[in-house]
Order: sequence, then C-alpha cells, then structure tokens
Amino acid sequence: MSLDAVLARIDADLPAATDRLLELLRIPSISTDPAFKADCDRAADWLVADLTSLGVETSKRATPGHPMVMGHVAGEGPHLLFYGHYDVQPVDPLELWDRDPFDPQVEETPKGKVIRGRGAADDKGQLMTFIEACRAWKAVQGTLPCRLTFFLEGEEESGSPSLVPFMNDHKEALSADLALICDTGLFDSRVPAITTMLRGLLGEEITITGPDKDLHSGMYGGAAMNPIRVLARILASLHDETGRITVPGFYDRVPEISDELRAQWEGLSFDHKAFLGDVGLSELAGEEGRSALEMLWARPTCEVNGISGGYAGDGFKTVLPSKASAKISFRLVGSQDPLAIRESFRALVRGMVPPDCSVAFEGHGASPAGSFDTTGPAFEAARAALSEEWPDPAAYIGCGGSIPIAGHFQQITNTTPMLIGFGKDDDQIHSPNEKYDMESFHKGIRSWARILDALT
Ligand code: BES
Ligand code: ZN
Repeated sequence: MSLDAVLARIDADLPAATDRLLELLRIPSISTDPAFKADCDRAADWLVADLTSLGVETSKRATPGHPMVMGHVAGEGPHLLFYGHYDVQPVDPLELWDRDPFDPQVEETPKGKVIRGRGAADDKGQLMTFIEACRAWKAVQGTLPCRLTFFLEGEEESGSPSLVPFMNDHKEALSADLALICDTGLFDSRVPAITTMLRGLLGEEITITGPDKDLHSGMYGGAAMNPIRVLARILASLHDETGRITVPGFYDRVPEISDELRAQWEGLSFDHKAFLGDVGLSELAGEEGRSALEMLWARPTCEVNGISGGYAGDGFKTVLPSKASAKISFRLVGSQDPLAIRESFRALVRGMVPPDCSVAFEGHGASPAGSFDTTGPAFEAARAALSEEWPDPAAYIGCGGSIPIAGHFQQITNTTPMLIGFGKDDDQIHSPNEKYDMESFHKGIRSWARILDALT
C-alpha cells in the first residue's frame, strides 16, 4: 500500500528532515523586535526555497510588517490549506538558557531525544511536520496528494498586525475546504488531539504617573503619592477571594460547558497534580469549584504578565518613582467581547486613580475566543488517522492559548479550521530552553501523511 511506502520514506529521511529543521531554527526570526527584521525575511526566503523544491508555486508576499509565504499546488480532490508561523518569541532572559537559542541541536535526555532551540516547538518544528510529510509523499508518489495551499505567517508572535488586511485582500486564494493549523499540542504523550476550543486574548498596558519626576523617598515619602502604591492596589483588586475577576460585566457572555462536554473532559482523566507538579506547584489557583481542565480551557482569566517602576536593579535605592506600569492579559471564552471588556476594565482602573495621579492605557491586541465544529466526515477521518499513529485514540480537547487566525478562517474565508499539533506541555514554548521532542517531530510527520491519505 502506498501510505506504507510514504511512512517508510519518512522514517528513512528523518535525519535529513532534522537537519533541515535545525537550519531553519538557526535563523533568529523574532518578529516583535525590529532588530531581527532581516532575519524574519531570511526565514521567509528559506521557506519559499524549500516549498519551491517540492514543486509548490511559492512566493514571499510583502506586508507592512513581516512577509507572508504563500504557495499553491493544483490537484484533484479536496482543497486543503496548511497554516503555520515561522516567527518566534524573543529569547530573554538569555542567561536562563543552557545553550545559544539559535544554535539548536539534538539532545539526549532521560525522556528521549529532543530538538532544543527557540522556535523548535512554536512553531517551526510543527510547521515542518507538514512540509516533511509532503516531501515524503512527493518522493514516493511523484505528486502531492491534492490541491494544496500553504500559508505561513511571520507575525503570529507579535499579534499578527498584517493578517486580517492580508486575508481580506486574498480571500479567494485563502478559501479552502479545510484549514489545517499546526500550532497546538497533544493531550499527552500517548494521546493525540484535535483542538476544538481556543481562548481569546485581550492585552492591556497601564501606566500610572504620579509626581512629574523621580523623587528622594526620604524627602518626599509620606507627603507625595507613590504610583507603585496605586498600581499595586489596582492589580490586587482585579480578583476577589474566590478567584473571580472583578471587572464589571466580565462574566456576561461566559457560558457554562455542556454536561456532554463536561463528561467528555472528565473521561480524559487529566492529572492536575502531575501537571502542576512538573512546574513545582501543587494547588489549583483559578476560580473555586472548577476543575483544572475547565480552568484551562473554558474559564476566562486575568493575568499580570509584567510590572515595572522604580528601582529594580542590584542593591537598593530610596526612590519614589514618577511612573509605574503593568502589562495585563485577559484570556477570553465563549462570546466575551474583547472591546467591551477593554472599556469596562479601563473604567474600573480610572475609578481607582487618585486625583493627583493620571493613567495612560495602551491596548495590545483583542481577539475573541473560538470554537470549532467537528461534525463532518473530515474530522472523524483525521481522528481515526491520528489514532493509528499514536498509542491511544485521539481526543477532542480545548486549548488555553490563543490562535486568532482560526477564527479569521471562519469569518473571512468561510473555511473550517482543523487544529492539530504535536507539542507537549513541557516544551517550554515562549520560555528558556524551548524544545520539541524528536517523537513529536517524527510522529507528527507520520500523522500528517496518514491524515492526508485519509482526507484525499
Ligand atoms: N502556539 C501558540 C498557541 C498555543 C499556546 C498553543 C499554548 C498551545 C498551547 C501561539 O503561537 C501563541 O503563543 N499565541 C499567543 C497569542 C498571540 C495573539 C500573541 C498566546 O496564546 O499567547
Ligand atoms: Zn505558535
């Protein structure tokens, strides 16, 4: 059978596929930092060349930000679109890395081989699983399996500023029967997954200004308002003692999950003690009375992602600072409206700023939650194909992270997204020492070959 030949080819080509991934990982395509603009461009060029070598008609498309890579192949059967992102997160704090983040290598660990480097799991390794499956298919069959569109983005990690205008301008080319998105994880190392729910994201930065210059805290302290004190009071008030978020109207459009979904998630037997144990914790920190999977997949959050103000360097300084600021993100679920929540949050904050201080806001992206219909034969076919490759059957799961393009495919191009990925919880995406298991990479490639076979 020809699928077996493709799988055999994938196995034989794994060392070369790994070398190709390492090459892509060496390009520091950090999208948020203008200093790496040329590197983002180089990563796009690398992908254009690689896809072109597979006979895919590929080009780099300029945007006001980093380029998109788009490729098309004609063919029979369904029109499948594949999406991944070639940009990566910044590497800081660099001192916490055990090696140069952009000098990746394959490491032996007690849990097996891993590919270590920035972007290994998010998302270059995942993106290459699909391309490698296509490469093996082409080598064995002489052609690719069906009509395919490749759509690779270079701004995902920095809020995708060019994405919606680009999709609107290329509606026709980006409409397909199915958009395969490879940017999510397995349920665990035995259970592959199709993700059916994503949380939305609202980013807010607030800066409180008190005195018009930094002051000596002995000379002015007690008489002059300290903006860090104002900021701390605001941040501490965002949750009540039961873990609920206090922004007025925040829970207005947060649905309870159905009994059916609750039962399905309970069936996954998620071990939250082990999940927290892996990161040195033991106690759930979300809303009282909710299960861990509910907290992660179906409840909204408010997290402070960073605070700055005053003197935080080595040693000590008795300063009363002029400004203090915080970056805050809200994960959203159901039909929570990001813009309405932004307004409500800002009103709440304004109401807590004393007369002598002022507050300035900066928004950092606002995208609603997504949920994806899995009825239809393609989903069952993909689920069966995944179940063939992994030790246990595939599960439909939620994801606490955000991938706004999934919703854009539904709304802008009327294309059903199918989210399949092979990341693991301990991949340390966005953190120091990011890695992608060789097993994720290898079985991920094999999974796509099986899925392509099942869908065409
Ligand atoms: N690959 C992640 C999404 C993800 C996170 C999948 C966790 C599985 C588990 C994606 O690249 C990402 O990090 N998205 C950002 C949102 C974006 C709008 C900046 C996120 O979720 O913070
Ligand atoms: Zn990602």
